[in-house]
Amino acid sequence: MNLIAAVDKNWAIGKAGRLLVSIPSDRETFRRETVGKAVIMGHKTLMSLPGGQPLAKRTNIVLSRDPDLRVKGAVVCRSVEEALGAVGGFAPGDIFVIGGQETYDAFLPYCDTAFITYIDYAYQADTYLRNLDREPDWTLCEESDELTYFNLCYTFRRYVRKERR
Ligand SMILES: NC(=O)c1ccc[n+]([C@@H]2O[C@H](COP(=O)([O-])OP(=O)(O)OC[C@H]3O[C@@H](n4cnc5c(N)ncnc54)[C@H](OP(=O)(O)O)[C@@H]3O)[C@@H](O)[C@H]2O)c1
Repeated sequence: MNLIAAVDKNWAIGKAGRLLVSIPSDRETFRRETVGKAVIMGHKTLMSLPGGQPLAKRTNIVLSRDPDLRVKGAVVCRSVEEALGAVGGFAPGDIFVIGGQETYDAFLPYCDTAFITYIDYAYQADTYLRNLDREPDWTLCEESDELTYFNLCYTFRRYVRKERR
């Protein structure tokens, strides 16, 4: 399965329950990649979405340990195993882990492709994705030309898990 994230130069992803920055072409890439597919997110990421609502036109899987949580338009799962079962009908390439930190950490062992928007700036942050440049199992396989949004420079990167021996 895939993960998709926007990271800064320290691989930070969020602060105080929110994204670090919102770049229109990043939002568009996220939409294009995930529409019609399954997305897996943590409860805190769900709460950060507009109105705390699931994403339209996607099968939303929300992780929570709260046995009473119900979310209209989403399947709530209480464990990684339950979430893996809930996406069992999807091809692995059609499943996207969309954050945040706790959820990326839990699903990274199951991911083999990572779509990363890499923003060349260091933000104040409190949540991070594992730095895939330092993970021996992962390699950068594609990077776009450098793009700009006002004074920010960023690229779209794709990392893949190296062949398991
Ligand atoms: N830059 C990006 O691409 C990106 C993408 C997504 C999110 N973010 C940011 O990331 C931050 C949120 O990350 P986070 O780590 O605090 O939260 P998170 O992963 O979104 O959600 C954590 C919550 O998910 C549930 N959960 C996590 N693992 C679980 C498991 N194994 N079993 C059952 N439930 C589980 C728990 O919910 P309960 O508390 O209900 O039990 C937990 O409190 C925000 O700032 C957000 O904006 C950034």
